[in-house]
Amino acid sequence: MKQQKILEVKNVSKTVQGKKIINDLSLSINKGEIMGLLGPNGAGKTTLIRILVGLISKDSGEVSINGYEIGSSFENAMSHVGVIVENPVLYDFMTGYENLIYFSTMSRESVDKQTITQLLKDVNLLEAANKKVKNYSLGMKQRLGIAQALLNNPVLLILDEPTNGLDPEGIKELRTFLRALVNKGASVLVSSHLLSEMELMCDRVAVVKKGEIKRVLNVSELTEQNKENKLNVTFYLENVKSASKYLSTSKYPIIESIENSNIVLNLYKQEIPKVIHLLSSNAVDIFEVNIHDKKLETKYMEIINQ
Ligand SMILES: Nc1ncnc2c1ncn2[C@@H]1O[C@H](COP(=O)(O)OP(=O)(O)O)[C@@H](O)[C@H]1O
Ligand SMILES: [Mg+2]
Repeated sequence: MKQQKILEVKNVSKTVQGKKIINDLSLSINKGEIMGLLGPNGAGKTTLIRILVGLISKDSGEVSINGYEIGSSFENAMSHVGVIVENPVLYDFMTGYENLIYFSTMSRESVDKQTITQLLKDVNLLEAANKKVKNYSLGMKQRLGIAQALLNNPVLLILDEPTNGLDPEGIKELRTFLRALVNKGASVLVSSHLLSEMELMCDRVAVVKKGEIKRVLNVSELTEQNKENKLNVTFYLENVKSASKYLSTSKYPIIESIENSNIVLNLYKQEIPKVIHLLSSNAVDIFEVNIHDKKLETKYMEIINQ
């Protein structure tokens, strides 16, 4: 079966003041995937996103969203998109709830109050719904922005550098939230200049350099483990001391540890469940396990430096 394309960009170019910012760029996103736009500052990520949502015009090429070309069917194309470019536009003097009510009146389709309450719940802001936005943290504002972008129930959510200004906990929440969203059938395009974030967040990553997509990397294929290779695996746990105690008498070497946060072990893939079992059977709670594979980083550096 042919994959359903939610976003299709074909040969798009844009020159600003004599400088080619986007150069014959093509990219597509399938239904239910998180695609990352990864590239250094100035690579053209924000410019591309602005083109995709019609904030600026393209000189040539085609952009289709959910089958609608933005040139000829702009309204239809946009009715399927939620977007935050740079920072969400929110009113500080209104509460989170009032902001969503206000923006819902501008949505093409009517949004009932129940949907707004559900959205606030989805982004974990129900308790703060009646607080003024000026008292929100950056992470809360970011989440309210996402709720706002989701008001029209988009099939494609586009977020430009959404992790900027978020703390690690906020970034992790965002990751979980986006994954839940795509599991319900939406697609996400997210930009970042940080490889480590893209690796954890995305299914595929498009590497952008000087307005061109140099390569589209499949994250799961890259992190697919080769049995002979050992991996650095980070275990996030509160009780690092007692974890270290149990592991010191095991055959699993600790290569790094940070008190009250995490330990890093060098393991074969098949050893990971064994370590999880060892720790949890000794009452050490594990909050998260991350595998770091240098393959993606190596590939990225190769592509960016070529
Ligand atoms: N309005 C503009 N006028 C002139 N140059 C611009 C304008 N917008 C972006 N640029 C240039 O386009 C390039 C890409 O910028 P941008 O899309 O913001 O990159 P990124 O988001 O990847 O950091 C940069 O070199 C920037 O200086
Ligand atoms: Mg940018």
